[in-house]
Amino acid sequence: MSSHAETQAKPRRFLPSGPLTGRIRVPGDKSISHRSIMLGALAVGRTHVTGLLEGEDVMATAAAMRAMGATIERTGEGRWTVDGVGVGTLLQPQAALDMGNSGTSTRLLMGLVASHPITATFTGDASLSKRPMGRVIEPLSLMGADVSATPGVHGTQTLPLMLRGARPAVPITYRLPVASAQVKSAILLAGLNTPGVTTVIEPVPTRDHSERMLRGFGADLSVDVEADGTRVIRIVGDAELKPQQIDVPGDPSSAAFFIVAALLVPGSDLVIENVGLNPTRAGLIEVLRAMGGAIDCLDPREVGGEPVADLHVRHSALSGIEVDPAIAPSMIDEFPILFVAAALARGRTVTRGLDELRVKESDRLAAMRAALELAGARVQETEDGLVIDGTGGDPLPGGNHQPVATHLDHRIAMSMAIAGLASRAGVAVDDTRPIATSFPQFEALLDGLAGA
Ligand code: S3P
Repeated sequence: MSSHAETQAKPRRFLPSGPLTGRIRVPGDKSISHRSIMLGALAVGRTHVTGLLEGEDVMATAAAMRAMGATIERTGEGRWTVDGVGVGTLLQPQAALDMGNSGTSTRLLMGLVASHPITATFTGDASLSKRPMGRVIEPLSLMGADVSATPGVHGTQTLPLMLRGARPAVPITYRLPVASAQVKSAILLAGLNTPGVTTVIEPVPTRDHSERMLRGFGADLSVDVEADGTRVIRIVGDAELKPQQIDVPGDPSSAAFFIVAALLVPGSDLVIENVGLNPTRAGLIEVLRAMGGAIDCLDPREVGGEPVADLHVRHSALSGIEVDPAIAPSMIDEFPILFVAAALARGRTVTRGLDELRVKESDRLAAMRAALELAGARVQETEDGLVIDGTGGDPLPGGNHQPVATHLDHRIAMSMAIAGLASRAGVAVDDTRPIATSFPQFEALLDGLAGA
């Protein structure tokens, strides 16, 4: 959360490592963890969650739901109970909701508040306060919410903002102008407490955890897929949610760093257990395999209504690739680490259609271009992507005196940590604190493997 502001930056140089071998487990999926707290808090009765991600972003969601009346308790490692207040009965929070670094908390909770008769103020850290909120303010205003936001650059609307919910809210039919699961989910969550049918039309499919989990909690939600792939999602309002037992699968976006590390470091042979493989999230694996990566799925199964497998990854010679922009939504958070893989591949990797990367926790195209250049990679930045000429498998030079700027972005820090592993002289980053937003055990896990 905004605790970053109160403590000193933690710089670190990530050193080259020997082969990564053995078996590891990554923490619970961030998207699913947020949603299990939110829906648990809206059900009547006690929801049990196992495998919850105990990172700062999810804790920001938990604190906000507590401030609005839910009782949320940790009963063991990754084990939590949530006693819900019921849809329609969220309480007025007494203080501003501090969203820390978390865009998912902010946008989804704005949806929840939008159809309750309460007013909430949302604040966040320096990174979150730059991110565009107009994309949720527009549909939520159409539903009747009243929002006053802070003007950002280029006419954007940003935090801090105050949102006054509507009661009753008005159901809308809304076609998503950007491929965003956060915007889709904000509208569906607002629809939970809106009389009538709220419809979201999604021309490009994005992660569908909200749809799966809303159904699991007993909401009346349907998804129709049209001939051109457009998804029409309808939710019937004034829903009553029933408490659930949720087992959160491992986060594929966290596994991604170790998948790429094992592909890049010679001699590696690693199993990553219990990785979520929802097709709306698994694009990176497809792209890495097309580059020549040896990634096998062992023991495919279902956990908490989501497909899961153990991934067996071996060191591989990778080749550059032209990445089809159509696959971007299913690997939207994995581009920073894909860029690292591309920097060690043979030949050129071209990515485009990635404008959304400019409005994540940082501008990930600019941040990764600068970071990889400091590590000695050959990179060009275009308007909507990066073009990378790889080393052909040789380690990156590394040895940067000026540390990589992570811009409060956990995925830049972790991606460049992996670049350091696959370098000759190590890669220095300016601040490892943001890693705790999504993957608090990352450095311990990495040090355990690299020192093995
Ligand atoms: C998320 C959706 C994505 C993703 C984010 C988590 C979610 O954001 O980048 O890390 O849980 O719904 P967008 O909706 O902005 O694409």
